[in-house]
Amino acid sequence: MKRLRPRAQEMLDELVDAVVRDEPPADLVERGLEPFPIALVSEVMGVPGTDRDRVHGWTRQIISTSGGAEAADRAKNSLYGWITQTIRSRADSTGEDVYSLLGAAVAGGDLSETEAVGLAGPLQIGGEAVTHNCGQMLYLLLTRPELRQWWQERPEARDGLLDELLRYIPHRSSVGLARIALEDVDLRGHRIRAGDPVYVSYLAANRDPDVFPEPDRIDPGRAPNPHLAFGNGPHYCTGAVLARLQTELLLTTLFERLPGLRLAVPADQVAWRRRTMIRGPRTLPCTW
Ligand code: HEM
Repeated sequence: MKRLRPRAQEMLDELVDAVVRDEPPADLVERGLEPFPIALVSEVMGVPGTDRDRVHGWTRQIISTSGGAEAADRAKNSLYGWITQTIRSRADSTGEDVYSLLGAAVAGGDLSETEAVGLAGPLQIGGEAVTHNCGQMLYLLLTRPELRQWWQERPEARDGLLDELLRYIPHRSSVGLARIALEDVDLRGHRIRAGDPVYVSYLAANRDPDVFPEPDRIDPGRAPNPHLAFGNGPHYCTGAVLARLQTELLLTTLFERLPGLRLAVPADQVAWRRRTMIRGPRTLPCTW
């Protein structure tokens, strides 16, 4: 991820150059928060330029609930079919992109093709998360002057603010993926039977008053801040370091390059995404 940083900044600068050139107002979701993470994940994964729109169309449909389960299933089949072909075609590749690494690993017998596709799919789909999580962050920074002030006046303490925003933001519209109990477990007087699905809410955990005093308040100086925004245990978010890198670059670059950045509409007129798994503003019309 450290090696990726200069290239990531370059890709983001190209997008922001165009925003500056076109002059305000601009929808920063459309012009930055959406294209940047998608382009960067595609670059890391090794999606050829000609396939990027198609791949993005599928990943967007998979995390959306608007077309129903059938449309999401169709998109998932298409994406996974494409991934299988791509991994196969890179069996001899020495590239450093994820599809090349997986292709070479399958060819070398280190893992099965099914495992490789199962690893790559969620990574490709997970790339969508930053757009919406960072959208919520930007909305908060643009609507709460005290947070904006902290961001601008205390660059050395930005990490703490980012962690507090990650804790505070309800990333998902629902509780998340189920775990299936492998054996009977007794927990605080409840019996969970083997085979039962269990839903664990990271969102509720992030507002636990026993761990986070005044949990509904955003306190950029909160320490310690053991939030679970990226999950916990074996399924801890694979993309956490990439997500942090993208978020930090996006916020730093947008505030630096667009001086006086502010919403171009009243805050209560910002439209929010509906019928989708990940919460976030649909658009962020801004001026500067
Ligand atoms: C701010 C952005 C993000 C947030 C808040 C986030 C949050 C999470 C959370 C809470 C989980 C755990 C789910 C569970 O336990 O059931 C998770 C898993 C995962 N995330 Fe992220 N994520 C973000 C960005 C990304 C990005 C950019 C990628 C990929 C490029 C990614 C890839 C994944 C993958 C592959 C998993 C599944 C890990 C596994 O099951 O072993 N995420 N993410």
